[in-house]
Amino acid sequence: MAYYFKLGQIPPKRHTQFRQPDGSLYKEELVSSKGFSGIYSILYHTHNPNEVKAIGQPIPYSWEAAKDHGLKQTHLKTSGVETTGEDYLSARRMLMMNNDVMMGICTPRKRKMDYYFKNADGDEIIYIHDGEGILYSQFGKLEVKKGDYVVIPRTTIYRFEFAEDGPLRLLVIESHGPIETVKRYRNEVGQLLEHSPYCERDIRPPHELVVEAEKKTHLVQIKKQGFLHQYTYGHSPLDIVGWDGFLYPYALSIHDFEPITGRIHQPPPVHQTFQAWGFVVCSFVPRLFDYHPLAIPAPYNHSNIDSDEVLYYAEGEFMSRKGIDRGSFTIHMGGLPHGPHPGTVEKSIGAKETHELAVMLDTHRPLFVTTDALEFIDKNYPMSWTE
Ligand SMILES: [Fe+2]
Repeated sequence: MAYYFKLGQIPPKRHTQFRQPDGSLYKEELVSSKGFSGIYSILYHTHNPNEVKAIGQPIPYSWEAAKDHGLKQTHLKTSGVETTGEDYLSARRMLMMNNDVMMGICTPRKRKMDYYFKNADGDEIIYIHDGEGILYSQFGKLEVKKGDYVVIPRTTIYRFEFAEDGPLRLLVIESHGPIETVKRYRNEVGQLLEHSPYCERDIRPPHELVVEAEKKTHLVQIKKQGFLHQYTYGHSPLDIVGWDGFLYPYALSIHDFEPITGRIHQPPPVHQTFQAWGFVVCSFVPRLFDYHPLAIPAPYNHSNIDSDEVLYYAEGEFMSRKGIDRGSFTIHMGGLPHGPHPGTVEKSIGAKETHELAVMLDTHRPLFVTTDALEFIDKNYPMSWTE
């Protein structure tokens, strides 16, 4: 959800005749959320979007919670991972999950997808930790780069083409509920307010339609309820000549998130970037530290009594943690306090700024590590506060 946008040709009035050069009608499709009560867009297809040619055998596609992991502060070390699988879907390794959200990593060997993907289970945020490329979807072409949050609403049919050179590392968040900008930063008509850490100018929608109008079969893999359903259509899903509305994929760079700072330590809500059902996403970005003469820049100990807190460390030194690498996840579970490692509080005093970059996921309901995460667990982490 961002703001009203349109690309390509659309008729002046919705649900009216809109004809192709040969006189036939374009096929209108309403893509609506929350039934008819949420955001929506109206798309105009060259071909019938229901023209299914074949349905293949569904491929099982799900993750399992490691329920016997227990109540432990957890550190997943994924920095050494060079690749997580062959292609965009088989390389997804979800490392933690609950009924509201899943989070994991994806470093595919193949940089270009030769099929389309539709996530019918939830909205996605793909955080580009390393790499750059192009997201091709029904809504058009969107260039994405390192540091971007790419927000892809459910049912968007898309494929990525990532650059062949350089490292590629994606952080993947799948949300059961819609991913939205933060409500307290919006006015009554949805515009981002002056105190929001980012505004509409920072949100990049697709900017150019790619119209593949020729009749040719295309595979769309649809993720729904634990399977990848194999749908072959008689044309490309990118046969759209125009669309308008509020529902479309967009990119927001973490580097365009303007930090909120204060005289004393600011709590994580100042870093909030997105909201969804049952969780929030926050961005920790380079910023000046607290400027009270007696300020302690390191955070205080914290008992998160009804949430689990995940930090994904993207860049820089984290002053409150030891033994954390680029690509590490820490999961601080509700039910235990957590805080800076020994020695880091005194060391932080007098520091003027930080260059850290991290993505935080705070869930309201308990989060489980998956069986895929077990190989990354740092066994010493739960005792790492003992001097
Ligand atoms: Fe915390």
